[in-house]
Amino acid sequence: MHIEQIETPALILDLDIMERNMDAMDKLLEGSSARLRPHYKSSKCTAIAHMQMARGAKGITCAKLSEAEDLVLAGISDVLIANQITELSKIGRLAYLAGCCRMTVCVDNSANIDDLQKAAALQNTVIHCLVEYDIGMNRCGVHTKEEFSALARQVMDCPNLVFDGIQAYAGNLAHQEDYGCRARESDRVEAKLMELIACLEEQGISVEEVSGVSTGTLEFHVKDTVYTELQPGSYLFMDAAYRAVGVSFEHSLFVLASVVSRAGGGVITDAGLKSVSVDQRSPRFVGYETYEVDMSEEHCAIYGKDLPQKVGDRMLLIPSHCCTTVNLHDHICFVRDGRVVDRVPVTGRGHSR
Ligand SMILES: Cc1ncc(COP(=O)(O)O)c(C=O)c1O
Repeated sequence: MHIEQIETPALILDLDIMERNMDAMDKLLEGSSARLRPHYKSSKCTAIAHMQMARGAKGITCAKLSEAEDLVLAGISDVLIANQITELSKIGRLAYLAGCCRMTVCVDNSANIDDLQKAAALQNTVIHCLVEYDIGMNRCGVHTKEEFSALARQVMDCPNLVFDGIQAYAGNLAHQEDYGCRARESDRVEAKLMELIACLEEQGISVEEVSGVSTGTLEFHVKDTVYTELQPGSYLFMDAAYRAVGVSFEHSLFVLASVVSRAGGGVITDAGLKSVSVDQRSPRFVGYETYEVDMSEEHCAIYGKDLPQKVGDRMLLIPSHCCTTVNLHDHICFVRDGRVVDRVPVTGRGHSR
């Protein structure tokens, strides 16, 4: 089937371009001590997670327990939930999953550690833990070295938990458009983590893993880094928000739209807010990147003089935020040379629990 024959709106992935992004990532990591643990939140597609594992990823990062379940059911053997799981019903499921794969979760709270230990003991499984350290994002994670070492010790004292190290994600820097500022702040993150590690080692607490890092800050954590694993997600697809940051991967993910009206002069297409997200600026049409788009629930439009499109023409939209756009679709059409080679389920669509 040719791309022109796909019913719209549809999510399109150019496999050749995605593979070039994977090659570029491999090249960037050549000689680095850090390994890739890519984030499932971007693709939400176990078929793509398997491609990443086949290319040497040490495991997969995800955000939610329900995403971890997708990954484990699909046979991914090493999963990190880069978040806190605090509801008791979920902790029970997490402890069960820990018997099916190497399962790691983040912690930043003492009562939560007790609950994880109880559930893992009940299931007779082992859960690996990263204590989360806040390095500037002001989201999850403890703020002081003292709080960190107290939680690390608590994990170490639990027979069914293993203290692996540190989760440190500076999401506040991912889309910092000032390169110098992004570089400087990333260096500051490295220094802060080095300080923490030295303090822990002085107390006899050994740190095996330091996990974190986004597509936007990756290049600053490749050489001479304290990070042992890197969690980028968007590098596979790129999007308009990361283009504005100046990140050098290529756009491989698009929403295919059809022109449905020219009656009022504008180019009105059938891909609206239910097909392409707008949480990080607005999407852009390929070939018309400088045009502001006008979005509504079912439509996306551009206006201008002498636009040549006619009803029925197809246009490609570059999502502004690939991760939230993928979550709006049931399937991804894998395309090579303009032809559909597969139609793959978005296995993690809506898995936000
Ligand atoms: C914990 C964590 N790690 C890594 C990422 C990196 O994602 P990306 O490379 O898509 O910006 C995110 C993004 O939200 C995240 O929350």
